Amino acid sequence: MVEDNKATITYLQLMKEDLLIMRLVPNDGQVPEYKAGQFITIGMPNPIEDNKIVRRAYSIASQPENRKYIELLLRWVRKPIPGRLTTLLFNAKVGDEISWIKPAGSALSINEKLPDGSPDKRRIVCIGGGTGLAPFVSFAQHLHDVGDKREILVLHGASYVDELSYRDVLTGLEYESLDGGKDKWNFKYRASISRPQEWFNRSWGEQLGRVETFLRPKEGEKSPLEELIGDKVTKENTMFYVCGWQGTIDGVLDFLKPKGFLTQQNKREDGSFEVKFESYG
Ligand SMILES: Cc1cc2nc3c(=O)[nH]c(=O)nc-3n(C[C@H](O)[C@H](O)[C@H](O)COP(=O)(O)OP(=O)(O)OC[C@H]3O[C@@H](n4cnc5c(N)ncnc54)[C@H](O)[C@@H]3O)c2cc1C
Ligand SMILES: NC(=O)c1ccc[n+]([C@@H]2O[C@H](COP(=O)([O-])OP(=O)(O)OC[C@H]3O[C@@H](n4cnc5c(N)ncnc54)[C@H](OP(=O)(O)O)[C@@H]3O)[C@@H](O)[C@H]2O)c1
Repeated sequence: MVEDNKATITYLQLMKEDLLIMRLVPNDGQVPEYKAGQFITIGMPNPIEDNKIVRRAYSIASQPENRKYIELLLRWVRKPIPGRLTTLLFNAKVGDEISWIKPAGSALSINEKLPDGSPDKRRIVCIGGGTGLAPFVSFAQHLHDVGDKREILVLHGASYVDELSYRDVLTGLEYESLDGGKDKWNFKYRASISRPQEWFNRSWGEQLGRVETFLRPKEGEKSPLEELIGDKVTKENTMFYVCGWQGTIDGVLDFLKPKGFLTQQNKREDGSFEVKFESYG
């Protein structure tokens, strides 16, 4: 029997008709403990299904150090038919109640140790497609709050410029890195737009294509990611985290596998690996 807790929606930011930031506060006032990269299962009763609770998993975008609320980045699924829970969530209002089950998931836990027990000091590269950015917003804010000294890059891919959620937060974190020095906080954020030909995206002059194009080397040259970090990406110096469509995960692995990178699911006998991912769809 699933134990549902109750929370109240305290904040809604509709970025466009199908993209929403939602904050939840548990009714007992206690934000549950969780780790950056985990998801929470939330639910609402569906009136057209005898008020049966429809539950789905959502990555937590807020960081564990934020004890005020849980923040989620939600896409309203419309095709081929409106999604059961997201349609309810996009009709919900501040003050409405939501059910939740405690945060879970280890696919995107931040790697802290190498198999020999030494600290994992490799560069962290996070690649998020669309709402797949959410766990990395949590990563970035968490690593910042705990004063992590590793080099961290967050790469976001979206179809349209108005889907670059958290651009202000992530740009702010990069400015802090520039102002305070990389020895204190070493962070970069970049985005890519996959439909540059569309009129709405006409002002976009940065990376073009799906987010995995950051890994594509230009003829005889470095990849845009390598240009950005000023270093060659190797399995000894970089750990990748990927979230989004399965096609995004596959696209990233197409570049990394030939370089000898392995996923956690497919790790070497000595326990080493360089890629963690989570996908749905
Ligand atoms: C670990 C994890 C984390 C996630 N994190 C996020 C997140 O941070 N943000 C986010 O937005 N999403 C996230 N998701 C996805 C989320 O859990 C839901 O799957 C998503 O919101 C759709 O739920 P829904 O009930 O609205 O759609 P559903 O009703 O479950 O529909 C899913 C799809 O099936 C189609 N479908 C349903 N019924 C039929 C039918 N009869 N015939 C044909 N097609 C049909 C729908 O059109 C839709 O495309 C995550 C998923 C996982 C597993
Ligand atoms: N923790 C998790 O597991 C988690 C968390 C959040 C979201 N998700 C899942 O992540 C997915 C992202 O959904 P979204 O609506 O936010 O994405 P979206 O806005 O539709 O797409 C985001 C980006 O991914 C590209 N893309 C779309 N389909 C692709 C494919 N098949 N292969 C490779 N790239 C593709 C898009 O390119 P084009 O412009 O070319 O379409 C766009 O650049 C969903 O499946 C969602 O459920 C999972």
